[in-house]
Amino acid sequence: MARTKFLFGNWKMNHLISETKKFASEVGAAVTLAKEKNIEIGVAPSFLSLQTMAEANTGLIIASQDVHFSPSGAFTGFVSIPMIKELGINWTILGHSERRLYANEISLTCNQKIHACLENDVKVIYCVGETLAQFEGGLTRNVVKEQMIVGLMNLKKEDVSNIVIAYEPVWSIGTGKNASEEIAEDVCGYIRSLVAEMFDQETADKVRILYGGSVKPNNIHSYMTCPDIDGALVGGASLKAESFIELVKNI
Ligand code: PGA
Repeated sequence: MARTKFLFGNWKMNHLISETKKFASEVGAAVTLAKEKNIEIGVAPSFLSLQTMAEANTGLIIASQDVHFSPSGAFTGFVSIPMIKELGINWTILGHSERRLYANEISLTCNQKIHACLENDVKVIYCVGETLAQFEGGLTRNVVKEQMIVGLMNLKKEDVSNIVIAYEPVWSIGTGKNASEEIAEDVCGYIRSLVAEMFDQETADKVRILYGGSVKPNNIHSYMTCPDIDGALVGGASLKAESFIELVKNI
């Protein structure tokens, strides 16, 4: 069964509201192209730009970059699921390695967040991936397995249809050192086999798995020829509409 290709831009802590407006006004060609090619595409702006992006009504999927698992409460500086939903946002990235590194996020917290999102009809792009030291130590599979088993703990197989997994080796993020297709395919295939073990083969065949880490317009296509890679999560190369359009063209 063919899985719909998926391209997502993670803007991280980039783009002012004014820059978000500019992107929205220039990105139309990407949306048209994606429709023609039957690809799902979207971006995750900063919390402050979510409303601007939603109001621009570009046709892109819009995601937040994180959410808290509680609907409200004494959590200074966090943003809740009802807050993004009020803006019409029903996607979020969770477990990005920068959240794991700078906000001490662990797979168990991701699991709480994933449950809260799915209970509230918010779809999730769940990120996994190993650091350079773990990669060099031959620990990639161990790390990814823990992130998958704990992150997706106690989910039902039906839930997995609302989750996209992104494999992002930390050593390839923002470094220009993108993983080879062989490495990316090997780990994405492993992730799919884990989904089959944890749920069943049908669920594994359906789940979309992305590669992320220094994906650019000139290398995106090589990943798309890998059988277990269904798209890309892109940071730097997703910031300019021109480059985003090129990514859609080349996917
Ligand atoms: P990059 O970031 O494309 O800039 O390497 C990818 C990501 O962190 O999602």
